[in-house]
Amino acid sequence: MNIAVIGAGYVGMTTSVAFAAYGHHVVVVEHNEEKVKLLSQGYLPFYEAGMEDMMKQQLKLGQLSFTTSIRKSLKQAEYVFITVGTPSLPSGEADLSFVEQVAQSIGTFIDDYKIIIMKSTVPVGTGKKVQEIIFSQLQKRNVDIPFDLVSNPEFLREGRALKDALQPDRIILGCENDRAKMKMNSLYNDFQSKILFTALNDAEMIKYASNTFLATKISFVNELARLCENLNVDITNVAKGMGLDKRIGPDFLQAGIGFGGSCFPKDIKALLAFSAANHVPFQILQAVQSVNDSQVEWFMTNVANTLGDLTNKHIAILGLTFKPETDDIREASSLRVIEYLIQNHAIVSAYDPKGIDQIKRIFPMINYAQTPIGAIEGADAIILVTEWKELIHLDWEAIKLKVNKPVIFDGRNALDRNRLVDLGYTYIGVGVKGNI
Ligand code: UDX
Repeated sequence: MNIAVIGAGYVGMTTSVAFAAYGHHVVVVEHNEEKVKLLSQGYLPFYEAGMEDMMKQQLKLGQLSFTTSIRKSLKQAEYVFITVGTPSLPSGEADLSFVEQVAQSIGTFIDDYKIIIMKSTVPVGTGKKVQEIIFSQLQKRNVDIPFDLVSNPEFLREGRALKDALQPDRIILGCENDRAKMKMNSLYNDFQSKILFTALNDAEMIKYASNTFLATKISFVNELARLCENLNVDITNVAKGMGLDKRIGPDFLQAGIGFGGSCFPKDIKALLAFSAANHVPFQILQAVQSVNDSQVEWFMTNVANTLGDLTNKHIAILGLTFKPETDDIREASSLRVIEYLIQNHAIVSAYDPKGIDQIKRIFPMINYAQTPIGAIEGADAIILVTEWKELIHLDWEAIKLKVNKPVIFDGRNALDRNRLVDLGYTYIGVGVKGNI
């Protein structure tokens, strides 16, 4: 098939590389000329495991190409994915201006049947709005060109984006007629995933419902962790016990220093905004947001209660990205941790395998190390913020000789607590206490 993908962000690039790998011809549209140049040479502007290699391969095979021109991309393509950003407005609502501009362009340039597939995360009703925009452009041109609009939300996780795109758990397709269903069935013919056809609006809601439900699980377990800590109960055992119930499941019950990333915080804000606009204040979601907003503060209060006055204390931060296997620092908990430490006059040194350059732009005043040991040396305490494998498996015995005081705050409950305690560390997790 010939596919156009409009928007070379995370979702757009993953979609493009995945469909190219399935043997389709994909042209990616990106308005930034410099970015198109780099992408055409095989450079991906973000880190995602395995993606750059696969992209280079598809470029070589001629399955993948890049352009700045929507018009050109629409000439060949029958399938047109919209994957532009929908960032939060100050009100929390999703900014749909990019989506609307793309819809205008599609209506202006198409000259034969297209199936337009919305992959950007958009509030319920946006698909219909896009349909109207395209339709009214066609009317202005006084042409009668058939098109279908499908909502096909993306559920990829950063760090596992390729696998999620190549073998998704499920494919949700909001289609309003049989032609669109048939076309989408043949597009996804080679995928082994379950397909669910729904109405347009339903598909749009499924994306928000899924992401905010996962965030709800996390905030639930994080708030429970606060209680566990007071009662001397171990949240990791509680979560394990809960997760054995098939109706609950073990995933997204990992208590920690809060969720971040480009999706959960933004999608919660957007769902809160459009539920309020529909006179249904989403109370559970308000609580999910407020627990997450206060989780770092709660955790850092623990740090301060344990260490006393933080002035001139040397604190080493391990992990800066919002989760491992990505270079993404959007809404990362590390941002608030650093802010707290700066405000409390601590001396901060930090290490991350992929996130230093980005954090440095926001906090140029703290120290950055090229190795974990570089950050840890002489520290009065270590805070693990992101559970990168290389950080979990450090040689903690050797490190004990390098720190000023062997104190670890494990913001992800990811370290081997018993071993650390045996080695003589003071260990404090989230809703678990090692030895105090
Ligand atoms: C999420 C959704 O999982 C994905 O389906 C959607 O398409 C985009 O948003 P992503 O943001 O890449 O994906 O990361 P995810 O693995 O879901 O983690 C999000 C945040 O939650 C991270 O900060 C992570 O550390 C945190 N988290 C996750 C927890 O604190 N506890 C958990 O048990 C799981």
